This record gives sequence, structure tokens and C-alpha cells, in this order.
Amino acid sequence: MIVVIGSINMDLVLRVARMPLPGETLTGGAFRTIPGGKGANQAVACARLGRTPVAMVGCVGDDAFGATLRTALATDGIDVSHVSVLPGVATGVASILVDAQGQNSIVIAGGANDLLTPALVDAALPLIARASIVVLQLETPLDTVRHAIAVAHGLGKTVVLNPAPAATLPAGVLAQVDYLVPNEIEAAMLLGADTAVQPAAAALRAAGCGNVLVTLGAKGVHASLADGSHDFPACAVDAVDTTAAGDTFIGGFVAALAAGADPASAIDLGQRAAAIGVTRHGAQTSIPYLNELEPT
Ligand code: RIB
Ligand code: NA
Repeated sequence: MIVVIGSINMDLVLRVARMPLPGETLTGGAFRTIPGGKGANQAVACARLGRTPVAMVGCVGDDAFGATLRTALATDGIDVSHVSVLPGVATGVASILVDAQGQNSIVIAGGANDLLTPALVDAALPLIARASIVVLQLETPLDTVRHAIAVAHGLGKTVVLNPAPAATLPAGVLAQVDYLVPNEIEAAMLLGADTAVQPAAAALRAAGCGNVLVTLGAKGVHASLADGSHDFPACAVDAVDTTAAGDTFIGGFVAALAAGADPASAIDLGQRAAAIGVTRHGAQTSIPYLNELEPT
């Protein structure tokens, strides 16, 4: 089993010709609500891109968005027994602007995600104990992420951390992470310095992560693995919306790893999935299924 511990958001997506300037009003936007949240997106990608059972640990509010998001996860076959419905709390939302070039800017109101406590992680211990891989991000409280990583690492699970959105981490956390998957900005934030990609990945490995995969968007992935460093160029595609591209990559990577693939083949599957995802709109609406990937 794969257990994903993290955020669940309703994305409020406005497509615009270009980003507004401060104080400016733009007309002609197109609006959609689309299931998102880095945790939920990664859980959905794990479920769609592999055959290993997936469980989600997270929180929604007792509002219409929460009900829709919990049902969406269950529809993808994900175990939602530890997706808590918190009374009197708003479900997390992400307000997303996507421009004609497919670039996005995002503002998040964490809502129920901010109330995922270490105690709720402990309540999910029976699930975590059955997992081979535990996946986390940083859209839930840092104390909870740190606790969950310690618990999963202590149980000998493979720990995958997507340190997004960018943040600094308390000392000792990286040494309990088997696969760290930052983008360039997140890698720089973790190191507290702007460094070229190769030395950044090497420095993060030296901080104790077993393996570091830096996602570089259209430039692919730079990986510093136990057996050395490798570059994986991205497939060239016409991107319309890069929202959740990183989540799709991570889900595909984890699903392949859980199925026994070596890291290089797992990276390849994640990249092929993300390449399809960026040609479609939205977060969970864009994540492909295994049978849509070109055979290799
Ligand atoms: O990674 C993409 C996700 O980030 C979106 O779905 C949005 O909810 C934000 O959490
Ligand atoms: Na997309």
C-alpha cells in the first residue's frame, strides 16, 4: 500500500489571457472548480498510474467542497477512511490564475488542512504500518509532517517528501527522507542559498536524503541517486496548464517504485505521465491513467 499524508483543496481556477497587474481588473476570464491539493493530487496520480492500493490521510471541512473532494478520492479507488471531516471548518481552497501560456499563480487558504495534527497521523498508524511507501508535502502543518516522517522512517517505510510549497525544514528531517523531490526554488529554500542544480542536489544528499530528484519543468529532472547523478530530459509537449505537473510526476514515480521499478524507470514513468498532464487543464482532471501512457 501507498499512504499519502497531505493536503486536499478545491481549486478555484480562472483562466485569463495574462496575469493582472496590481490594482488592475481583467474581464473575460473562464471559471471552474477542480479537485486539487498537492496531497490529494499525488494520491490520485499514485492510484491512476499503478495497481498498488492507495490511502489518503488528511482533513476536509464539513462543507460542500469537502464532500465533493472526499468522494473524488474514493472514486479513484483511494481509501478515505482517514480523510477526516472536521465540523465547522472550511475545506482548503486554492485560488489559481492560469494565463494563455499555461503559467499559473496560486494563493492557498489552508482551512481544514491546517488542522491535520500529529494525533490524526497516529490514528492512521494501522494504515501506515501496512504501507511500503509514505508520501508527504508541505501544505499541512510542519510539526505534523515532521512527526509523520519520523513515524514512517521508524517503521522502516520508504519516505518520499515533496518539499512544496517552498519552506525551510528543521534539522534532522532530511536524514529520514529516502526520496526528496523539490523543484529548483524549493531546493534553494532548503539549502538557504541559490545554487546551481547539480551542486544543490548533491548538497541535499549530503544532508542525509537517500536520493534527490530536482524537477526542472520543461528541462526535465536532475537526480542525485545512490549510484550517482543522472539527467532525465523532459518529453517535448505543448503545455496548456502546468498545474499539478509535479504532483503527477511524483505519483507516477511512486506508483512505479511501489511496483518494484528501479528509480530510473520510475522517473521515466513519472515524466511520461506529467507530459500528458500538462497538455490538459486543471489538477486532478489532468492526471492520466496508466493505459494512456505510450508503451516503452
Ligand atoms: O500542486 C498543485 C496544487 O497546488 C493545486 O492543485 C493547488 O490545490 C495547490 O495546492
Ligand atoms: Na495540467
